[in-house]
Amino acid sequence: MSEATELVLTIEKAERLKALPPYLFVELDHAKRKLQEEGHDVIDLGVGDPDLPTPSQIIQKLQATVQDPANHRYSVSEGLLALRQAIADWYQRRFSVSLNPVTEVLPLLGSKEGIGHLPLALVNPGEVVLVPDPCYPPYRSGAVLAGAEVSLMPLEPENQFLPDFGAISQRAARRAKLMFLNYPNNPTAAVSTENCFKEAIELAKEYQIVVAHDAAYSEIAFEGVRPISFLQLPDAKEVGVEFHSLSKTYNMTGWRVGWVCGNAKVIAALAQLKTNLDSGIFQPVQWAAIEALQADQTSLQPLMATYQQRRDLVVDGLAQAGWQIPKPQATFYIWAPVPGGQSSMEFAKRVLEQTHVVITPGMGFGAHGEGFVRLSLTVPTEQLKEAVDRLTKAL
Ligand SMILES: Cc1ncc(COP(=O)(O)O)c(C=O)c1O
Repeated sequence: MSEATELVLTIEKAERLKALPPYLFVELDHAKRKLQEEGHDVIDLGVGDPDLPTPSQIIQKLQATVQDPANHRYSVSEGLLALRQAIADWYQRRFSVSLNPVTEVLPLLGSKEGIGHLPLALVNPGEVVLVPDPCYPPYRSGAVLAGAEVSLMPLEPENQFLPDFGAISQRAARRAKLMFLNYPNNPTAAVSTENCFKEAIELAKEYQIVVAHDAAYSEIAFEGVRPISFLQLPDAKEVGVEFHSLSKTYNMTGWRVGWVCGNAKVIAALAQLKTNLDSGIFQPVQWAAIEALQADQTSLQPLMATYQQRRDLVVDGLAQAGWQIPKPQATFYIWAPVPGGQSSMEFAKRVLEQTHVVITPGMGFGAHGEGFVRLSLTVPTEQLKEAVDRLTKAL
């Protein structure tokens, strides 16, 4: 073909990608990268990615099982029965909830994968997905990718960051197919109540809405607080499922393993979708996950003590500098009201410029996150001390 007639392909993204909420942190990311390139010591309190290592017996299990060629082949998409059984046993011990490992448990390539795919398995274009605001972004993007209409449930400090189910419009409720909830909550660190879950179940029954509760942070809690499972409530399994992750509890974010459990029909729909998209979790990772779940869970106490100490260091340290922030009872996030009437983005930019500390503007989690910033406790304690010193000077 001559140069003159050569065709140039115009590559256009699909409409569904264009419909995703815009990525709001371009400028902030750019400023962070520039500072790093200039050789500045940037402390990143932006991401919730544990700095501490995966416990050694989990690593050893991976090392041992990776030697076996039987573990090198495709795994089954629905996960090893041994893992599904270990998950069911863990649920029984931790929450006194009985699960059928075959029909009510489905391992995932990290819970984000299942969260993102669930609307594709359940929701038709134009149907409504109820999503908390602020929230972990994949609830919203998964719904948008499925062509759903997102209806937001504001989480307000006056209501302890629990949804006001009474404020959901009749129109949205009638058209809703799925509702996401998440406690302990990212980004607000709020813990749920039985009553909140009860109200969600009542609404779900009245309007035929599937509830998907994300309990990724259920094990990260302080001072005797033991977050409950949605599935502990009567009839919860009739209306919904619960997502879980090994990422946060066992410092395994890079391993990509989590699960969803609960309502068998919902699990079957997601499993059917997944057989068309993935071929299961690398088996040594599944054996390592079994090791994690079967180990003596009191070994997690030092990790919780570390997060609690870091939380106190930040909240008490910043209080001395005049920044009053409520102490979270769970998660490794601090949800802090922006001081001095600036927007969360302006404040985060100013903090980055003046202190080289990265914090996340609350508006990145939804419009109702405005007025707050999120600080993550997943950096070494020494760095966190340094961050508090720098913030204190800047405040
Ligand atoms: C609320 C919440 N759910 C789920 C996840 C995803 O975890 P995973 O590593 O299992 O995909 C995260 C990660 O930050 C999260 O904050």
